[in-house]
Amino acid sequence: MPSVSNKGLTMPQSPIRKLVPFAESAKKKGVHVIHLNIGQPDIKTPQQALDAVKNNNINVLEYSRTEGSEEFRSKIAKYYIKNDIPVTADDIIVTTGGSEALSFAMNTIADTDDEIIIPEPFYANYNGFATACGVTVVPVVSKLEDNFALPPIEEFEKLITNRTRAILICNPGNPTGYLYSKEEVQKLATLVKKHNIFLVADEVYREFTYDNKTHTSILKEEGLEEHAIVIDSVSKRYSMCGARIGYLVSKNKDFIATALKFAQARLSPPTYAQIASEAALDTPDSYFAEVKEEYVARRNLLITELEKIDGIKIAKPQGAFYCIAELPIKDADHFAQWLLEDFSLDNETVMVAPAAGFYATDGLGKKQIRIAYVLDKESLKRAVYILSEALKNYKG
Ligand SMILES: Cc1ncc(COP(=O)(O)O)c(C=O)c1O
Repeated sequence: MPSVSNKGLTMPQSPIRKLVPFAESAKKKGVHVIHLNIGQPDIKTPQQALDAVKNNNINVLEYSRTEGSEEFRSKIAKYYIKNDIPVTADDIIVTTGGSEALSFAMNTIADTDDEIIIPEPFYANYNGFATACGVTVVPVVSKLEDNFALPPIEEFEKLITNRTRAILICNPGNPTGYLYSKEEVQKLATLVKKHNIFLVADEVYREFTYDNKTHTSILKEEGLEEHAIVIDSVSKRYSMCGARIGYLVSKNKDFIATALKFAQARLSPPTYAQIASEAALDTPDSYFAEVKEEYVARRNLLITELEKIDGIKIAKPQGAFYCIAELPIKDADHFAQWLLEDFSLDNETVMVAPAAGFYATDGLGKKQIRIAYVLDKESLKRAVYILSEALKNYKG
């Protein structure tokens, strides 16, 4: 039999999806599984985005321009300008989700065996994209006790070699919920300029910041124009994960011209999804105000309920919709599987994401889980109750 590639063999499995078969068998046994494990919001997609797809008179579903339609990119630029981010349509490539933007970015800035430094825990798919393009992820540990704040800048500098091409951050963070301050972003900006490397910021959760804190985009940093690359997406912002539209944004002309060649190879982003996403840009600010209010209420409830559990440690999130908790157990992978296979309370159980899969360093995060607060408050409260009862019964 012909063999698959070594690259394929080293491609990491999603730490979240590997538990899916256990959830499926629990469901087949009639157990109701409350999903705290995935970042699929339950928030309604803005109506005008849904209507735009229904109410158009397209007769031929053509390819669009490789970089996304002119009208759409101009409207995206207006969105950024409204957020005090000075970009034009020419600085933007529309991609098939933030996922493709990440893949184009890594391929554009790094060759095989080049290195990208990322604070861990990080969005697990960064590992997948890095493996696919032969890039080595070099982690810097951030700590739950510090709410996963930016590690000291010296820790990053120590790791810079002649192979380092970039530092990649996620702001606000998945899985940490941490929101980097202006000072933290500036420290990174100074470092990447000093070593002439890129700073890539995954800002897909930009809109989700709480406690009156504002988001600092790296695109606002003066003097960082040639270094800054932003990954963006409509998935979470407008609860449009299935649209598969994201953007790659940079003022660096060489970067955009090179990324465009990768984009040309896949021809164009999806047409209907661009129509929906363009309409979504007209979403009134009141939508975000309501959505934020809902997430803040969920976060507060989640933290209050989790704090009732003996021996738990929680990092308080200030953005996105994730929270990492350290449980009084030895192995969260085992616990998460046990929850699905061997535990239920009145025929219900919970599915959580073991956090070890968000770390690149072996052994870290073993007692931690990531909870996504993308469920209504009642379900969240019930889920944490089930979790606390499960911990009382768990003998792992
Ligand atoms: C931090 C982060 N970046 C990027 C993505 C990719 O999103 P999409 O491809 O749906 O735009 C996700 C999805 O969960 C994410 O959490």
